[in-house]
Amino acid sequence: MKRYIGNKQKLLHHIDEFIQDNNIKANSFFDLFSGTGSVADYFKSKYDVSANDIMYYSYVILKAKLSFKSSPEFKKFVSKYKTDPINHINNLTNSNGKKIIFENFSPKGGRKYFTEENAIKIDLARNFIDDILAQKEITKNEWYYLLACIISTANSKGNTTGTFGAYLKYFSASSIKLIEFKHIEMNVGNKGVAYSLDGKKLVKKIETDILYLDPPYTAIDYSQSYHFLESLALYDTNEYKGITGRRIENLKVSKYTKSTTALEELTETIKLAKGAKNIIISYSTHGIISLDEIKKLLAKFYKEVKLKKFEYSKYRNVYKNDKGDLYEVLILGKGRKKWNQY
Ligand SMILES: C[S@@+](CC[C@H](N)C(=O)[O-])C[C@H]1O[C@@H](n2cnc3c(N)ncnc32)[C@H](O)[C@@H]1O
Repeated sequence: MKRYIGNKQKLLHHIDEFIQDNNIKANSFFDLFSGTGSVADYFKSKYDVSANDIMYYSYVILKAKLSFKSSPEFKKFVSKYKTDPINHINNLTNSNGKKIIFENFSPKGGRKYFTEENAIKIDLARNFIDDILAQKEITKNEWYYLLACIISTANSKGNTTGTFGAYLKYFSASSIKLIEFKHIEMNVGNKGVAYSLDGKKLVKKIETDILYLDPPYTAIDYSQSYHFLESLALYDTNEYKGITGRRIENLKVSKYTKSTTALEELTETIKLAKGAKNIIISYSTHGIISLDEIKKLLAKFYKEVKLKKFEYSKYRNVYKNDKGDLYEVLILGKGRKKWNQY
């Protein structure tokens, strides 16, 4: 999924190399803060992969990417409609269904995330996949896949600068174009397991060779920045607040986005990760928690700690502040100590 903050798409080969260079023998890989699922999707051809994220829209994408060995075939749907479901969705014109996007996220509802025409197209698509699931013309996993396609297309077509924290005053050239839904990109590989839980609650149940942690590392909170994707995924009768249309009921603000709670949250998570033989953390030199604190923390629970930096400018725009040049960092905790050695 394009434009997702913290997406590790461009670091995948480095993560892979880091694992090889440090001679980590593994069969299983658990991606606890999986977001777009790019890391889990990459490693599903190598390891038994599991992935988790607290946001429901992310869970939908993880189900789409991990429920099939390759893109689904939609056998029942194709035998009835004689066409690919995405193609069919792009040609829909009529629905008596709900109009949540039109009424809340287009000028009709006083907000400019989508033109009225595109908002109606998203509503049509969203209602249609619920209908064909109810008619048993697709399986539940195929429904997740189609919803992931709708979420991913809507994410790239919003009238925003990238996140849904706010919309632009005037419709951009690309947001005026008629929306055309596309299949999501995913790799061929083994099926995996998806979860949608708070990482700290899930971690104590995990048994894995590699636990990969990529938590938020700035004050930007995903439940706020991507509230629209959550509302599109849930498609519920929530109230939408203020100018931006955020969800009134939002219990998912991450403790990793607050300087008062981030270190404590990471400490507890690593402490509870008794079943993780090795941990790899993705973080940034400009993150809320300092790298020294992370190294100290890993050294308490793991026999060896290794760190590798990657120039941020290679992956994004050059970024500097009073902490100096910005680097993406991978930190490894290798070999969990026995509990009486902590
Ligand atoms: C830096 S992003 C991960 C990006 C991901 N590696 C990718 O390539 O798309 C951090 C993710 O952590 C999730 N998150 C934040 N707090 C969480 C928590 N307590 N438990 C689980 N997931 C959480 C956010 O929803 C977000 O998707």
